[in-house]
Amino acid sequence: MEAGVAKSKVVTVLSQKGGAGKSTLTMQLAGGLARSGRSVAIIDLDPQQTAWRWARAASATHPFPAAVEGLAETPQALHDAIRRLARDGAGMILLDCPPSIEHPATLASLQEADLALVPVVPSPADLWSTKGVERLILQVQAARKGLKAALVPNRVLRTNLAWDVLEVMRDFELPILGASLAQRNAYAQSAVIGGSVYQLGRAGGEAVREMNKLVIEVLKLTGEKA
Ligand SMILES: Nc1ncnc2c1ncn2[C@@H]1O[C@H](COP(=O)(O)OP(=O)(O)OP(=O)(O)O)[C@@H](O)[C@H]1O
Ligand SMILES: [Mg+2]
Repeated sequence: MEAGVAKSKVVTVLSQKGGAGKSTLTMQLAGGLARSGRSVAIIDLDPQQTAWRWARAASATHPFPAAVEGLAETPQALHDAIRRLARDGAGMILLDCPPSIEHPATLASLQEADLALVPVVPSPADLWSTKGVERLILQVQAARKGLKAALVPNRVLRTNLAWDVLEVMRDFELPILGASLAQRNAYAQSAVIGGSVYQLGRAGGEAVREMNKLVIEVLKLTGEKA
């Protein structure tokens, strides 16, 4: 690292399966980290530009609490964008990946990240596709000891199937975060207002509690003070 460039922590959010909750997790985490006083930036690596559009839905009076920038087309462009954001004072940089581990942006994000988070919906299909993500992360970790990674249960329902799947998830080599996201309208609603669950008042209460737990775990895993 160059002298004078502050070290930002980089968190990539990836999954093989579409709709697992990458953009939701990215945006809510950004909301929570900003609430805890961090300066947060997001790089939207997905050609669908969900994170970018999400932030654009915000009003001028309540802008999204993190700057979102679009696609970094190459690994070098991503590296440079992260360096620039760090120089500009971002303490946390979140990367919202496209829904494919074959996409070059996903691999590039793992080369840059301090922490990789994989949202997993407790369903058999999500579980199967997570095997491939895990393999990729373990491969990168073999060469980059600094990369930490964890699975994040998302859309958790209080059904037997969900609990059975969570049980099976313990067979993965990657750890499962203690914090998880339940299936809640608040997560979808906050996208409509271009914000996070922190802006929903009482309607966001339970989701805010989940996110606060997640923020603390993410700060710990990235070696930051909670
Ligand atoms: N915990 C949750 N509770 C309720 N709805 C959720 C939750 N997580 C995600 N969703 C909804 O599921 C849909 C997919 O979520 P999201 O866009 O975050 O997934 P993604 O992994 O980023 O998808 P893609 O692979 O297309 O990028 C969205 O409509 C979102 O609002
Ligand atoms: Mg997405």
